[in-house]
Amino acid sequence: MDMSKKGYFITLEGCEGSGKSTQLKKLEEFLKNSGVDFVFTREPGGTPIAEQIRKIILDGNNTAMCDEAEALLYASSRVQHIKEKILPAKNQGKIVVCDRYIDSSFAYQAYARGLGIEFVKGVNVYAVENCMPDLTLFLDISPEDAFARKGGADEGDRLEQSGINFHKKVYEGYKTLANDYSQRIVCIDAKKGADEVFDQIVKVLKEREII
Ligand SMILES: Nc1ncnc2c1ncn2[C@@H]1O[C@H](COP(=O)(O)OP(=O)(O)OP(=O)(O)O)[C@@H](O)[C@H]1O
Ligand SMILES: [Mg+2]
Repeated sequence: MDMSKKGYFITLEGCEGSGKSTQLKKLEEFLKNSGVDFVFTREPGGTPIAEQIRKIILDGNNTAMCDEAEALLYASSRVQHIKEKILPAKNQGKIVVCDRYIDSSFAYQAYARGLGIEFVKGVNVYAVENCMPDLTLFLDISPEDAFARKGGADEGDRLEQSGINFHKKVYEGYKTLANDYSQRIVCIDAKKGADEVFDQIVKVLKEREII
């Protein structure tokens, strides 16, 4: 594959503590050494405006936020991120790697909050029509196992306080998505040690001729 022309958009998904940041760090090191042109970014956020929206979403004081407003804020942050950062980099032929993206909205807002896939697709129509990931790596580990590894939830984070039942729904949502979009979403066994998890990721990237 000629990366100088095409560009490639990869997203990492999984429950809180599933190892996304850990694997992104390894991937960053790996891509640096392989000499390919890449950009790392994250959701919600990734640009100054999108980061300001992220603060509102994650603010532990915003307990009154309704599910629909939350979904719209995510979508709004995403459009800004796509237009300002993701598409320009991809169009320059870069590999863009994003920590969380639209499948987080599907898993959290559509499935766990219960807004439904059609609602969430509707508010994310810009992303769905213009900027779907070429590949999504789903770090597959249950929330119970992931929380145990992390040593409990972070008290300041509104989402992590939502309780284990919410996170179980998120996990089930991800499983459904991985099944429904099996071409795009690849399940990575994230219960293994960090190096073994990364080996699986490298294997997928090689299979898809990204590296
Ligand atoms: N494969 C692994 N085996 C054991 N522990 C791990 C593994 N991967 C990550 N961890 C540990 O689990 C915790 C959470 O990992 P990490 O921060 O990478 O997850 P995350 O998916 O980015 O979480 P968040 O959703 O909160 O951003 C960290 O303490 C990390 O060191
Ligand atoms: Mg992280």
